[in-house]
Amino acid sequence: MGTVFSSIGGNLLVVLLAVVLYMARRAMLPKPLAGIPYNRDAANKMLGDIPEMVGYIMRTKRIFCWLTSLTARHQSAITQVFVKPASLPWVVVTDPFEAQDILLRRKEFDRTLFYELIGGIIPEQHSHMLSSDARFKYNRSLINHLMAPTFISQVSAPEVYKSICTLIKVLQAKCDIAKGRPFSPHHDIVYAALDAIFSSSFGLPEAESITIHGLEAVSQWKPDIPSNMDVPVKFPDTNVPEMFDAILTIADSVKDTQLSPAPILSGWVLRQFPYMKKAIAIKDNYIRKKAEEAAALIESGDYEPRSAMHSVLLRERELAGKEGRRPDYYKRAISDEFLGFAMAGYDTSATATAWGVKMLTDNPNAQEKLRVALRDAFPQALKERRAPSYQELSKAHIPYLDAVVEEVLRHANAIGFVARKALEDTTVLGHHIPKGTEVLLVANGAGYLEPSINVPDTTRSPGARRGEGKTLTGSWDDKDIGAFRPERWLKTEPASSIVTFDPTAGPQLAFGLGPRSCFGKRLALQALKMQFALITWHFKLLPTPPELSGYDAVQKFAREPIQCYYPSPASVAAPEPSGTQSTELPSGSEMAKSTRLSTSSRGADFEQHLIDHNIYLDNNKSSALNIQYIRDRLRRSRPSLSLSRFSNEDFQAFKRSNATIASEDDVVVEIVPVMCGTNKILSKRNLLFTELEPITDETASKPKPDVFDGACLDDIDKRIRADEHIYPLIIPTKHVHVPVAPNFFLEVKGQSGDPAILMRQACYDGANGARAMHCLQNYGREEPIYDGNAYTFSATYHPGTRTLALYAHHPTAPASSGSKPEYHLTDLPGYYLMSDRQALVDGLTAFRNLRDMAQEFRDGFIRVANAHTQNLVLPYIRKNTPESLQTMLAYG
Ligand code: HEM
Repeated sequence: MGTVFSSIGGNLLVVLLAVVLYMARRAMLPKPLAGIPYNRDAANKMLGDIPEMVGYIMRTKRIFCWLTSLTARHQSAITQVFVKPASLPWVVVTDPFEAQDILLRRKEFDRTLFYELIGGIIPEQHSHMLSSDARFKYNRSLINHLMAPTFISQVSAPEVYKSICTLIKVLQAKCDIAKGRPFSPHHDIVYAALDAIFSSSFGLPEAESITIHGLEAVSQWKPDIPSNMDVPVKFPDTNVPEMFDAILTIADSVKDTQLSPAPILSGWVLRQFPYMKKAIAIKDNYIRKKAEEAAALIESGDYEPRSAMHSVLLRERELAGKEGRRPDYYKRAISDEFLGFAMAGYDTSATATAWGVKMLTDNPNAQEKLRVALRDAFPQALKERRAPSYQELSKAHIPYLDAVVEEVLRHANAIGFVARKALEDTTVLGHHIPKGTEVLLVANGAGYLEPSINVPDTTRSPGARRGEGKTLTGSWDDKDIGAFRPERWLKTEPASSIVTFDPTAGPQLAFGLGPRSCFGKRLALQALKMQFALITWHFKLLPTPPELSGYDAVQKFAREPIQCYYPSPASVAAPEPSGTQSTELPSGSEMAKSTRLSTSSRGADFEQHLIDHNIYLDNNKSSALNIQYIRDRLRRSRPSLSLSRFSNEDFQAFKRSNATIASEDDVVVEIVPVMCGTNKILSKRNLLFTELEPITDETASKPKPDVFDGACLDDIDKRIRADEHIYPLIIPTKHVHVPVAPNFFLEVKGQSGDPAILMRQACYDGANGARAMHCLQNYGREEPIYDGNAYTFSATYHPGTRTLALYAHHPTAPASSGSKPEYHLTDLPGYYLMSDRQALVDGLTAFRNLRDMAQEFRDGFIRVANAHTQNLVLPYIRKNTPESLQTMLAYG
């Protein structure tokens, strides 16, 4: 009996074990997400797609092409792969428009676990933190200003330019030795990028520059030149200073971990090796020393930023002051941010340059067009047989150069994909995506570099539908989508035939997009433009032998070309004027005249463009709440414009001037001074607002009001101006004497000018002004308030219709979370100026009162914002609110 029971018990145990094993296997088996294609085989294996993926990585040393190949295999813009046992699948998306929506607008997506790879090395750096993490916000507030246009143009970019110039010298020396044979410039490019990032971060004495070491090494080298002209010259490697060596070692460890199936564990194991411990110690000492040097500058009273480190420590001092604590210049967050720059910055930039050298070599037409465009843009440099200076390069707008940079980045795919994690259940291309899913947006396949996969617009998420005009960019033509063709980024203005650069011509994910896109994009683009401009200016890149011209890549920190050979080029360092104007493109001088912009405020479609970006030419959606106050102010009498002072002769003279008007310029010279009278308002005419962040998108031409009023730059507290978020909203140009925070605009036309254009221009100017006022009004507030009042005004005058129109502009809160604020125009009384003297006096009175009012509002908000920086706000506001703002409280 006992035996029977024990045999039953044994059997039961076996069955139970089998059930447990079966259940465990089922739990471990991949769980496909409904409706999204996947490898059927993989779904039946506990290891899912891992064996296939690892096999691919072993063969090719990269992972990204495997991910993209799945799109082609399943013929679907969305696929899933099972690469983590017992976890959610990764979802791979190659539809550019769904990707743009996810990155730009979808709040349910944020930073992914992929960045945890670097968390072991730089735990306090912001790139692996969620956007909601308080540490992320704090770090960003320490470093944001480093990417402000002024900081880049005055501190970082000049250092980058110097590094590129030294690189050119190294390449020149190598060309001279190689005498027509190929050689690899890849290391030199990497070293120059490291020099650039270190010199802008910390300031780099010549003795520490690797590129200078490289130059010395070449000059001392006893050449060993192969007799075969196709065999590459092997130059000796440079003696890499200890600190750079440490950075290269640390960055390499990320490469090793990212291809591992257990990256975080592998990273930890690697960091236990003595060589890694040594590299980390060298890095820590170096950054500490640089922080000590910058802190000593601050202690000696030097507050003018000399390097990124100096500037970040100044910012830490300022934040500490606000928070009532002692500054901590040596905190881990600061040193990790600097190591983060070095790692994120040098390899990506150098890789893009290395790919670019190959692409320009293999596309001699594009190379020549770039050279012609550069020569046309810098005639003085050409005449003086020198390279363009930093000042010349940084000011120039050369559409073909912008186009080459974008096209190189499109093909280079330096960072193989952009990834986001779903923070809640959501939908992608019509499929349910559970919370926690990693979504990989790949940009090396369909829709980017290969013909698109057909995706019905209705399956896209609402913000990604092309039919609803919500997408950021156009799409590429499938016919030549894989070709290297910088021209795809250019477009010709129909009216002027001017060629402009169009950054939204088609999809591009080189820097990611949206709030977590590349932090260093501005600096990287500036550096790449200078690289390609100077390399093309100095050298003619000749074809390399086919066996050195492959396009295979290897995954390191970035996706690097395996072969990058420089064909010992014919130097054109002292170029002769080429005279080889391209027949397909307008001449470079024509291109240089153009700007990067494309949607002109003069075009009839501009009204729709404004509406598409929540800027309305009427007050149908919202009227300014203080309209009655404004109307009352317009009628206030002015002694200088009483009928006793403004004589009939004055009226007749005005009529005569108006009758002789032909052009816009005539209005500005003849009529505008009469309208303005004498006053002390700071005003300028006809300047392009080059520095303002686009209020619609980058395709729109920047505002260029005929007349605008603003404040003096010095009136705004330095801390406000240095704030990277505020600067591009209130400072319209780079000139220190041009008014800032403009909130009054006048637009005029010649006799036959189109009044509809005037109105659109006023609306556009006014929206920019309203944004500036709103930004100052809300400075220092956690949540912005939208009080419904107008603090910005515009006026238009048309000599043909002899009418003066006045408008008020105000913002209202975004209609939905994630959208932008809305801007409304409210009509104020208009004036026909020619009927009689009284009519002219009334019109001029209203015009001058409006300018005065704009000045009061502007000055009031500036005072309040300045007060915030000194924590004076509440008592200060009560005491100092100008009369006009006080009165408004009664109206509001
Ligand atoms: C050609 C050069 C570069 C390329 C192609 C590149 C590309 C990228 C990409 C694709 C991302 C991820 C974006 C996303 O997830 O949406 C990124 C992030 C980042 N990049 Fe770059 N990058 C370049 C240069 C630089 C430079 C020069 C710096 C620093 C000075 C930098 C700093 C960063 C940082 C800090 C992040 C993380 C941002 C965040 O998490 O919010 N990058 N970069």
